[in-house]
Order: sequence, then C-alpha cells, then structure tokens
Amino acid sequence: MLQLGHMNILGIETSCDETAASVVEDGTRLLSNVVASSAEMHVKTGGIIPEQAARQQIKSVLPVINEALTTSHQTPNTVDAIAVTVGPGLIGSLLVGVETAKTLSFLWKKPLIPVNHLVAHVYANWLNGASPKFPLVALVVSGGHTDLVYMKDHGKIKPFGTTRDDAAGECFDKCARLLGLPYPGGPSIAADAAKYLIQNTKRKLDLFPRPLIDQDNYDFSFSGLKTAVLREVASNKERPSAKLAAEIQEAIVDVLVAKTLRATKEYRPKSLLLGGGVAANSRLREKIESAPGLFIPRPKFCTDNAAVIASCAFYNYGPVPWQKISANPELTIAS
Ligand code: KG4
Ligand code: ZN
Repeated sequence: MLQLGHMNILGIETSCDETAASVVEDGTRLLSNVVASSAEMHVKTGGIIPEQAARQQIKSVLPVINEALTTSHQTPNTVDAIAVTVGPGLIGSLLVGVETAKTLSFLWKKPLIPVNHLVAHVYANWLNGASPKFPLVALVVSGGHTDLVYMKDHGKIKPFGTTRDDAAGECFDKCARLLGLPYPGGPSIAADAAKYLIQNTKRKLDLFPRPLIDQDNYDFSFSGLKTAVLREVASNKERPSAKLAAEIQEAIVDVLVAKTLRATKEYRPKSLLLGGGVAANSRLREKIESAPGLFIPRPKFCTDNAAVIASCAFYNYGPVPWQKISANPELTIAS
C-alpha cells in the first residue's frame, strides 16, 4: 500500500453511538478532533437502540464535520482526502458516515479511503508524534471485539487470537447491567472498582474464573464470566457492588494481560500496542505497564474517535471510487 508525503485527511467515524470527525496531518498531527456521543440517550435504556443511534448520527454528522473543519482552519480545498469507517458496526449508524463521505468525495472531488474500524483502533498509537516499531503485536479490545494481531508492517495484519464468544467490552457492559450500573458499563465498573481498590489495596481479588488463562492458545472467552457474575448477584444481595465491580474488572484484565504478555514472549515484537475502548481501563493500563515496548493511547483516543480513522487512512493509503464503497457491518480485523 502507498504511503504519502504531506497530507491532511478528514476522518469520519459513525459506526456506533459516537459521531466523530477529525483532521489529521500526515497520519500523526491532530488538527482537530470532534466527538459527539449519543451515549447519554442510551443510559435510560441501559444499552444502545440501533435505530435511535442512527437517527442521532443523522442529526450530528454534518455539524460535527463542519466543526472539525472550522476548528482546524481547514476548508474543502485544503483537505487532501476523506477517510471513513466502513465497518464493523451498526448498519444504520455506519450508513450515515459512509453515505456522507461518498457525497463529500463526489462534491469536493477528493479521494475517499474506506477504513476498517478495528484496524483504526491500532492507529491511536501513531497520534501526536509517537512511532511504534514493526513488527508489533496489538491487542484490540472494544465493545464488540477482542483481537490479538501481529503486524509486520502497515497493512500486513495477521490475527492470532480472538474471543470465542463475548468481547471484553461486552462483558464489562453486560456485567454492569447485572450490577445495576449505568451504560456504558466499562467506565461504570471501572469507577466503582477504583473506589474499592483505593480503600482495599491489599485485598485479593479472585472470586471469578479467569477463562482460558492457562491454555496454550491466544483465544479468549468471556461469556462464562458473565454467567458467574449473574449467579453471584442472584445469590448474594448484600455484597457491595464496588467489590463486585473490582472482582469483575480484575478477572477480565488478568486474562487480557496474561494472554498478551504470553504473545510477546512468543512473537518477540519490537512494540506492543493497545487500542479500543477497554484500553482506556486504568487497571489494565497499570497491570500491563511494565511490558517492553509498550504503547497505550491516551484514553480519549482508545474510545471511538475519527482521528484514528484519518491516521489509519494515511498509513494505509488506498483510495477507492465512491461508487464502489459500501458499509459492511460484519467486517473483521483480518478483512
Ligand atoms: O472502542 P469503543 O469505544 O467502541 C467500540 O468499537 O465498541 O469501545 C467501547 C467499549 C465498551 O464496551 C465500553 O464499556 C468499554 O469500551 N470501555 C471501557 C472503559 N471505557 C470504555 N471498559 C473498561 N474500562 C473503561 N475505562
Ligand atoms: Zn471502537
């Protein structure tokens, strides 16, 4: 894949409940970064209603793009290309970004680069001047995916571990619901767990199973953990939720860290990268901190944003005529 010189790319991200636009120079310098979220709307329902998320995307997409251009002092003339998330994600939400980007590409006569949202999460590590070294291993942990990948270079991705059932973020979200904590579940559990950990620094957290942790493979499985939490909640009404939150977080984080560190021993990468919403988790960050060659994006670049879309498009520059671009909710990190 081609890699270019000076380039301002407008990234657009609408795969779930964030509407985001960002202008990034040369894949690394952030000129603007606008994120509007409809998450608050979903607090009432305890989860995303896809139809509502899509409607909110429609309302937000043009104002957000406009703000990303204005705050970076860019115009359609100074933008060199447009990048857009084509999947995976919710079809209604994805379509808003994809169709908007196609229209702008046609009107502004700008190249359009389709971007895989999961690959883009890895590129949070290039923002603001950082430069991870190849070959690298990356752990992508988001609401819908848990993937370990080996990257020989930009565009050369080999997945070698994934979840057999629920994703790590999904496990956080589902467990939070069981505990009666608000959506999105990851930050809610993390906040309660942090309160508990501050007051109980020496307590052992071993209530829940660490699925597949000792198995000689790079697969994950989080649905059993969710069932164990359900049983615990049903059997013990008095247990303080902060302790349970800490137990859940510890179980998820332990498995993620153990498998990722084992992967670095086998693959011996020059860099180890984290990405995706769950990488914002401070306990995960703390427990993996000493890994050699580690890069972890700032929390706001772990969760969904469009800067990673623009960065990914720069390092994997492959424009496609707008007529040939369509949303693909089922995309995997390997496709
Ligand atoms: O990457 P992301 O923003 O969206 C997807 O691509 O899915 O990830 C969202 C996921 C959600 O499951 C959310 O609960 C989780 O990331 N998350 C966290 C934290 N912040 C977001 N999980 C644990 N701790 C956090 N601090
Ligand atoms: Zn994401």
